[in-house]
Amino acid sequence: MNGELIVVDDVSGEFAERVIEAFHARPGETFSLALSGGDTARRCYERLAADGAAQIDWWQVDVYWGDERCVPPDHQDSNERLGREALLERVGAANAVYPMRCDDGPDPYQLRVGEVGRFDVVHLGLGPDGHTASLFPGSPALDADDGRLVAMNRDPSGRNPHERITLTFSGIARGRLALVTVEGEEKRSAFEAVRRDDPACPAARIRAERVVWLVDRAAAGE
Ligand code: 6PG
Repeated sequence: MNGELIVVDDVSGEFAERVIEAFHARPGETFSLALSGGDTARRCYERLAADGAAQIDWWQVDVYWGDERCVPPDHQDSNERLGREALLERVGAANAVYPMRCDDGPDPYQLRVGEVGRFDVVHLGLGPDGHTASLFPGSPALDADDGRLVAMNRDPSGRNPHERITLTFSGIARGRLALVTVEGEEKRSAFEAVRRDDPACPAARIRAERVVWLVDRAAAGE
């Protein structure tokens, strides 16, 4: 499989610890963190806000998103809203915040990502269908292999609602560390596909300088 597997009881606690560790090991002055969406992500950010309150200097943190749903920023399905509620409003500071906005199209964000060079941490999740960020099975952005870092996308199966904007695999590969958090039995078969490098499973194609999978026992099938 693509990266290191760590099976844990407490995925969000482990996530928080790894982000704190990466913050202290950052090579630059600031720390760039790309956020995810979904319920696992929410739990991870609430935990990071609690455990990282005193351990991270949030004024040094640049916050990005790995994907976004094409809804207004205050919509309940907005990943920006999730990141603000679960993390940013709780820690009360950041050096800079860069929400992804569908209305702008992918190019301005791609330019920004190009300027960052490397993300210190890209946080990702795994959908039951094997998607990660907003890279869905059989979707057009999977093959944005012309060096695009950010693309518009949608789920051709219609299971995941809303148009999307997302980092491509090349965008994700800008991560020094990709942390993929996976919780729950409903992720077991998708995670099995990751483990056997199933080419039809988008998450099996995640690449970064280092990829770490934080997976609970239910999803790991233990
Ligand atoms: C999104 C996500 C997506 C998510 C997974 C897991 O915007 O939907 O970025 O890739 O991380 O679907 O989500 P759950 O933790 O809710 O299962």
